[in-house]
Amino acid sequence: MQDLIGTSIQYQHKSLSVLDQRWLPKKTCWRPCNTIDDMVYMIRTLQIRGAPLIGIGACLILAHLAEQGMPETALYAGTEQLSASRPTAVNLGHCMQQVQAILQYAGPAGVVEYTENLFAEDVRLCKKIAQHGAALIPDKASILTHCNTGSLATAGTGTAMGVIREAKAQGKDVHLWISETRPLLQGARLTAWEAAGAGIPHTLICDSTAAMLMAQGRTDQIWVGCDRVAANGDTANKIGTYALAVSAAYHNVPFYVAIPHTSSDSTCPDGKHIQIEERDAAEVQGVSGHAGTVTWAAPQTPVYNPAFDITPAELITGWVSDSGVYTQQQITEQGGI
Ligand code: MRU
Repeated sequence: MQDLIGTSIQYQHKSLSVLDQRWLPKKTCWRPCNTIDDMVYMIRTLQIRGAPLIGIGACLILAHLAEQGMPETALYAGTEQLSASRPTAVNLGHCMQQVQAILQYAGPAGVVEYTENLFAEDVRLCKKIAQHGAALIPDKASILTHCNTGSLATAGTGTAMGVIREAKAQGKDVHLWISETRPLLQGARLTAWEAAGAGIPHTLICDSTAAMLMAQGRTDQIWVGCDRVAANGDTANKIGTYALAVSAAYHNVPFYVAIPHTSSDSTCPDGKHIQIEERDAAEVQGVSGHAGTVTWAAPQTPVYNPAFDITPAELITGWVSDSGVYTQQQITEQGGI
C-alpha cells in the first residue's frame, strides 16, 4: 500500500500509527496500530474519532493486514468486529460493508486499492465542502462550532472546520466561538488547538453559554459536522447539537451542517431509526486525562450519557456537501444526499 499521511493517522514505511487524540493538546503521542483489536480499542476510546476518520482507520488496518497475508475469512470477521465498535456514524458501517463486498469479488488485494481510494477521496470531499461552504460565510462573521470537525476527524482539512479554514484563506475576517463539548471536550481540546494552528481567532465557551451568545446577537452562523444524515434530513451529531439548533431557530441564526456524501444514509428513513451510542458513566461522573482521574459525582450516581443526538431536519438551514448546498426539501425529494 502506498504511504497515506493524515494529521492524525499515518501509514508509512509499511506501518500504521494513530495520533492518540485523548492526549491533545498536552501531548503529541503517536501509537502503533498492528491488529484489529488495536483499532477497535482505539475507536472505542476515541484515540481515533470523527465520522469519516473511523471508517478510514478501520479500512487502513484491514488493508495493512491484507497486505501481510491475513486470510480472507479473518479479514471478513474483522469487518464485523470493527463495524460494531461504534454504532452511530454511518461511515464506519458503510466502509465495512464495502470491504465485505470487495473481499468477495476482488479478494484482499481489492481492500488495499479501496482504502487508498477512500483516503484520497476524503481529502477531495473536504476541499469541495470547504469551497461550497465558504461561499456562504460573509466577511466579519462570528461563527459558532461544536465538537471537532477538522483535520483530526478526516483525512483532509475537515468538514465544518474545513469551511471555516477556507473562509479565512479567502481573506474573510472570521471569529470562531468554540463550545467545549462536554463530556469529552473535543471542542476545548481539539478544535481550539486546530483553530490556533490555523491562525483563526477563537474563543472557548461552555456549552451552556451558546444560547446567551445568540440572544446577544454575537453569533452570525452555526456550523457543525454530522455522523449520519437520514433520508429525510434528520441529522445525528455530537450531543449538544440539537440544543444549539433549537436555540439557533429561536434566535434566527442560520444553522449549517457540513456533510461529505459518505455520511448520508439513504437507507435510514429518519432520525428515530439512528442508533445512538451510549457511553460510560465515568465520562460524566468525572474526568480522566494526562493528570489522572478526578471524580466529582458519587460513584453510585446514575448517569445517562448519549454520545450523539438527533437534530430534526426542519431546524437545519442547509446541508453543505461535496456536491453543493441542499435544503430540507431537496434532501427529502432525493431521499438523502
Ligand atoms: O465522538 P466523536 O468525537 O467521534 O464525535 C464526532 C462528531 O460528532 C463530529 O461532529 C462528526 O463526526 C463529524 S467529523 C467531520
